[in-house]
Amino acid sequence: MEATATANTNIALIKYWGKRNSDLNLPAVGSISVTLKELYTTTTIQFSPEFKFDSLFLNGQKADQKKIDRISRFLDMIREKSKIPHRAEVKSNNNFPTGAGLASSASGFAALTVAASKAAGLDLSEKELSILARRGSGSAARSIFGGFVEMNVGEKQDGSDSYATQLADENYWPLYLLIVITSEQEKQIGSTQGMNLTAETSPYYHNWVQSSEKDLTKMRKIIQERNFEKLGQLSEYSCLKMHGLAMSANPGIIYWNGTSVEVIHKIRELRQNNILVYFTIDAGPQVKVICEPNNLNIIKEELEKINGIKNIFVTSLGSGAKLIGREKIEYSN
Ligand code: PMV
Repeated sequence: MEATATANTNIALIKYWGKRNSDLNLPAVGSISVTLKELYTTTTIQFSPEFKFDSLFLNGQKADQKKIDRISRFLDMIREKSKIPHRAEVKSNNNFPTGAGLASSASGFAALTVAASKAAGLDLSEKELSILARRGSGSAARSIFGGFVEMNVGEKQDGSDSYATQLADENYWPLYLLIVITSEQEKQIGSTQGMNLTAETSPYYHNWVQSSEKDLTKMRKIIQERNFEKLGQLSEYSCLKMHGLAMSANPGIIYWNGTSVEVIHKIRELRQNNILVYFTIDAGPQVKVICEPNNLNIIKEELEKINGIKNIFVTSLGSGAKLIGREKIEYSN
């Protein structure tokens, strides 16, 4: 009743923003992401009749009750499926620094899904794992797979057709991402809260949902053709459309800080100098910069000149979530 799994985080090129059902965490739009190699979560879980409560340790620290409650609700689904009633101890480590302001829900819930289902004796397909991970966090459904991944919006009320599939594996197209850290504080408005406020108040929300399929169709084709310029242009478009949408909520949601904006302008300046480089940004101030291997060093050098940047992580594309042996885990607690 113990298992350990690791899952890489992912970054959406075509963004998910909005839910059609909050209880089942069903997205209102599909999304397309890339799974990253160097940023991952490793999670060990143990179910035991001796535990009175679920407990959670994040990077060696006992987590707050809000986080424990979220994990407990998720584990209840595993308990229901497996008929194992026991409470669990969860130990989860991110390999990226705590407080880096990087969203860890994608890699966190994907690793927890794989580890918890194994520990509870369930033998789930990748599709079932993706459906389960989605209940923890929409983006986690994509981290079950490596490389280029599409989250299918689905139509069914019960969410059984709302899961991710792999479009191409991590070796298909050698791309790099620079994760530019512009703030080390936790974001103020979480994605669920931001999505719900946007759906309730933005006059543009309907158009966002309506126009999504077109972007997904284009991105699938671009990935098939391996056209980097088009991939970058469409990723930037989807990112700015999502942030424009969030800004049009009432009160408007602004995830960027001054340095995020400076990085955006720097990327566009580099493009004017014929360096093919693009950006995307999730529900926070960190900027994810996309490029091909030949331009990686020059882009990093140029970005390092911006004063407000706290850190830059470089990563290529990585594989899907998987079980690993216990001996590979190191805990600091
Ligand atoms: O899966 P969540 O609830 O963390 O939401 C993800 C939202 C974005 O990161 C902004 C977009 C995306 O598709 O990952």
